[in-house]
Amino acid sequence: MASRSYAAATIFRRRVISIAISSQKGGVGKTTVSINLAHAFARAGVRTLLVDADPQGSVGLSLTRQSRLLAGFYDYLTNPAAPFDRWIVPTSLPTLSLVASGQASDYEAGDGGMGTHLVRVRAFLRSVAACGFDLCLIDTAAGLFGITGDVITAGDAIMIPQQAEPLGIRSVPKLLAGLHRLRIMNPRLSVLGVCLTMVQYNLPESTQAAAALRQLLPPEMVFQTQIPRDDLFVRASARGLPVGVLKDGSQALAVFDALRAEVAAKLAPHQLSIAKSGPHPAAGDDQRMI
Ligand SMILES: Nc1ncnc2c1ncn2[C@@H]1O[C@H](COP(=O)(O)OP(=O)(O)O)[C@@H](O)[C@H]1O
Ligand SMILES: [Mg+2]
Repeated sequence: MASRSYAAATIFRRRVISIAISSQKGGVGKTTVSINLAHAFARAGVRTLLVDADPQGSVGLSLTRQSRLLAGFYDYLTNPAAPFDRWIVPTSLPTLSLVASGQASDYEAGDGGMGTHLVRVRAFLRSVAACGFDLCLIDTAAGLFGITGDVITAGDAIMIPQQAEPLGIRSVPKLLAGLHRLRIMNPRLSVLGVCLTMVQYNLPESTQAAAALRQLLPPEMVFQTQIPRDDLFVRASARGLPVGVLKDGSQALAVFDALRAEVAAKLAPHQLSIAKSGPHPAAGDDQRMI
């Protein structure tokens, strides 16, 4: 029965679903959410491509450490002739691959106007679909303009990590204005919602900020799952790993599994096929990704 429904989902799947993980602010957990959510989807058997579209290359740095040397997304933008599989880096998890940021020095100083790379980003997503991926998670730099704007305009959905702290919540009106502008440019954009990160359950200011955000936004705009502040995330990124593969990462794994389930439910209209492919590694099973 499961294999029949998977076959049906495969037949009806026309293209990859792309989700930009974006926010106007830096340091809110975009890269952490991208890596760990990609890992959670891949563990669930979804063929997942994690793309580092931040010129500072933090996903790659985190997962491979030597990714500055890897060609990647920014090289793709300026190399239309290269074969597409050149950009894809497999990981030790067969359902998870990575596209590093690559040589983005031209972009770090400011990356031209929005729309400059839209055609190329669209072509990128078509190639990702042709490679057979179900899901493409794109970690972006802070800000909703430039290349990030193009990624969001070309994509299906956006997810916005937001740090649970009083100052962070003050930026919500600006966030809503930014989303409004993006929806004008991409009317079929699904705003999956805001994901509260670095929640400190023992700090009233943090939990109050989380509650305040839930009051400000419609319920469907805020994920139920909250990412707790946990030093394990810092340790995981220092070792180039998603947190779930660390020995004591099972709690964090459960949090990201819950977030994955919420994202999958919100993507149901896009017919994301959750294929099952063999046993799922438990926390601590895999100490090396690349
Ligand atoms: N839930 C968390 N608990 C503790 N530290 C976190 C958590 N999420 C992110 N961090 C740390 O906060 C810093 C910023 O996170 P990062 O994901 O790089 O944000 P962004 O990509 O938005 O700039 C990093 O040092 C990261 O390890
Ligand atoms: Mg980042």
